[in-house]
Amino acid sequence: MITRINELKKILNTKIDYEKHYPKYNSAKEWLDEWDFKKCKIDIYTHKIHDYPAMFIPQLARKIINELTEEEDTILDIFSGSGTTIVEAKILNRNGIGIDLNPLAILISKVKTTQIKKDVLINSYELFWKNYKVIDKKLKIKNFANIDFWFNPFVINIFSKISTTINKFEDENIQNLYKVAFSSIIRKLSHCKHSGFKMHKDKKKEEISYNEDDILNAFHNSILKVAKAVSDFSNIQNNSTTTIITGDSRNYQINKKVDLIMTSPPYGDSKTTVAYGQFSKLQSLWLELISENEKGHVENIDKELLGGKIKFIDIEDKVIYKSQALFQAITTMKFTLDLKEKKNIDRIRDVLSFYIDLDNAIKQQVKFLKLNKYAVFIVASRTVKNIQLNTDLIIAELGKEYGLELESIFYRTIVNKRMPYSVSATNIQGETCKTMDKESIVILKKVKDI
Ligand SMILES: C[S@@+](CC[C@H](N)C(=O)[O-])C[C@H]1O[C@@H](n2cnc3c(N)ncnc32)[C@H](O)[C@@H]1O
Repeated sequence: MITRINELKKILNTKIDYEKHYPKYNSAKEWLDEWDFKKCKIDIYTHKIHDYPAMFIPQLARKIINELTEEEDTILDIFSGSGTTIVEAKILNRNGIGIDLNPLAILISKVKTTQIKKDVLINSYELFWKNYKVIDKKLKIKNFANIDFWFNPFVINIFSKISTTINKFEDENIQNLYKVAFSSIIRKLSHCKHSGFKMHKDKKKEEISYNEDDILNAFHNSILKVAKAVSDFSNIQNNSTTTIITGDSRNYQINKKVDLIMTSPPYGDSKTTVAYGQFSKLQSLWLELISENEKGHVENIDKELLGGKIKFIDIEDKVIYKSQALFQAITTMKFTLDLKEKKNIDRIRDVLSFYIDLDNAIKQQVKFLKLNKYAVFIVASRTVKNIQLNTDLIIAELGKEYGLELESIFYRTIVNKRMPYSVSATNIQGETCKTMDKESIVILKKVKDI
């Protein structure tokens, strides 16, 4: 225990220059050419304290914020995920507002933007081990549906001790910090495949046996990482505020106007792209982020997200007439797919449901953008049934209805984002195709209040 605490003290006292990892642009050409950030380290400040699918890279978020806003401005991310935008906003003395529906995303972004001083972190770590030592006496072993399928009994036992000890913290910020550190090891030590976002069992992981020290060391390393980042983040001193909202961007109303919307929506329906809910499920159950009493809610989170529910819509829904790029894609699908097959109609409905939801979110949130300010969407286009869906152009065209005008689109190669690179785009078993290895940065200006 003493060694672990000394390790924490030592790491908290080391100095890290995070700022050297942000590129400086010496000319307009250098600025225009740099979008990939291939050589940049992304594990800086609190950005990488926890994995999350399709995270922004900090340097990209910073570049846009610096270009399009001033200090003390307010920046809104309507699909804020693990909070990259609001972390950068805080560092750059901008107020940040993040909205997301996934409770794990909310927890991670809260911790990423919390400022806790060194001494408090050290004291809480001492308290953690003190409480951990005596927890055996009243330990309640965790249980939820299929827990034995995903974890071996010894891991369940030690995880129960860790989570019970965490719940003893009275300070919510400290408790959240420990939850994030714990969350980082949950999927790793489960039988769930670590790569990918969906829940598939990895038979090889089932055979691994751990002793208590293995698990506690993994947790300790995770604490070191999170505590160091949060402690360094507490050195950022400005008066900017951060607001993190659990809400649905299709209808949530914030209470002020903002100077920039910067966001990255999901890439499509969670069935065939990123399943945020499945990615977060084991962690959410262990951390009790979503009570199991809310029947099936953990299972259903992917259904709540953009494009999560197939709407019983006409495949001629009016949304296709708002965007020529969408109209063309849907028309091509209608001509090339056999519409006598219900599954083909459903696939078109899937695609349309996603864009209807995205359209509603843009419509709802652009109301809060000040006139002559910008909305920036970072998106990857995708292929469904071999038909290209140019989400960048679709967003630009949908935005027109709400007073947004396309200013420019920059393209970048995705080099270090956690994304599915190859998915079944044809629905032929075993056949995969490369999608989403490029992304577009769509810059729109609000020219009209509608
Ligand atoms: C591409 S991720 C954002 C990642 C983020 N830029 C980051 O750096 O971590 C998209 C996010 O949209 C969220 N989301 C999907 N539908 C939503 C909705 N209707 N309202 C709010 N958030 C939603 C998902 O939970 C996910 O966290």
